[in-house]
Amino acid sequence: MNAPDLTTTFCGITLPNPLVLASGILGTSAALMARVAAGGAGAVTAKSCSRAPRPGHPNPTVLAWGAGFINAVGLANPGVDEEIAVLQETRRRLAQAGQGVKLVASIFGTAVEDYAYLAERMNEARPDFLEINISCPNVHDELARPFAASCPAAAAVTRAVKRVSAAPVIVKLSPNVTDIAEIARAVEDAGADAIAAINTVAGMVIDIRARRPILANREGGLSGPAIRPIAVRCIYQCYQAVKIPILGIGGVSCGEDAAELLLAGATLVGVGSAVHSRGIAALGQIRDELAQFMLAEGFGRAAELVGLAHWPAGMAGS
Ligand SMILES: Cc1cc2nc3c(=O)[nH]c(=O)nc-3n(C[C@H](O)[C@H](O)[C@H](O)COP(=O)(O)O)c2cc1C
Repeated sequence: MNAPDLTTTFCGITLPNPLVLASGILGTSAALMARVAAGGAGAVTAKSCSRAPRPGHPNPTVLAWGAGFINAVGLANPGVDEEIAVLQETRRRLAQAGQGVKLVASIFGTAVEDYAYLAERMNEARPDFLEINISCPNVHDELARPFAASCPAAAAVTRAVKRVSAAPVIVKLSPNVTDIAEIARAVEDAGADAIAAINTVAGMVIDIRARRPILANREGGLSGPAIRPIAVRCIYQCYQAVKIPILGIGGVSCGEDAAELLLAGATLVGVGSAVHSRGIAALGQIRDELAQFMLAEGFGRAAELVGLAHWPAGMAGS
């Protein structure tokens, strides 16, 4: 059997493979995003940016606690002006490398108007996709309830961004809700081109000797292997609820994990924490492992796996 075909089309745009660097993992750096791309990613996502620069939360902000990470970076970023320059430089490097790796910009705000402003500004950087982060769990003391927590709020942001964005809009959802499927339906109805699921899972780790939460922000967002079953469940529920494609994210560390998210209904698979545990070449390694799994299991194209766990519907479509 020939090597499996990993090229994947998402919102009409073709990526060399379904693996996407998740937002925030490598901060705001064109050089690092280009290295992840060269290492075998299908697309790279920039750190979420806001209108003004944000210093983020005081240290400690990231902790490896055993089954993954907990972070409360607090959306530290240099603000939209510098972010546009970084994205332009990243795009230049990706084009020069000529591997067809796509660029995803990411924005967040505290009001619908912020999202509309940022989405319009992002057109200057000409990303391939625009992800809107309405789901960060670490900033609600400061920025109030995430937009991803309510259908009308999530829909309002989506509509405002869709009115101005030149790039397809991916709305990033939160697992920290009672019913992620209803939020997915609300953003689809509001015009979203795709969904990303999931952002981090709200959590806390306490130092039992100090009798205090370890993170300076007290609460944080869990990522890494511990959250994969939560991501799989959320992707599965979204796949049943909407027709738009899904960028599945959460706890993927190897090719078989990526296959699991595809089977749940993801078309693309985001990788975040595994870059910390496996290094900058993680996405290329996971891509190769996915190809090996597909070869062993007799799959010729990545698209054949998407949603296949929704038996019997998946079987009927296969
Ligand atoms: C240190 C850190 C920073 C993050 N920053 C962002 C961010 O700026 N925007 C965003 O949408 N998600 C952010 N995330 C969430 C990731 O993009 C991803 O959704 C989450 O970590 C789950 O994937 P993983 O288990 O593969 O890490 C961040 C995650 C981590 C660990």
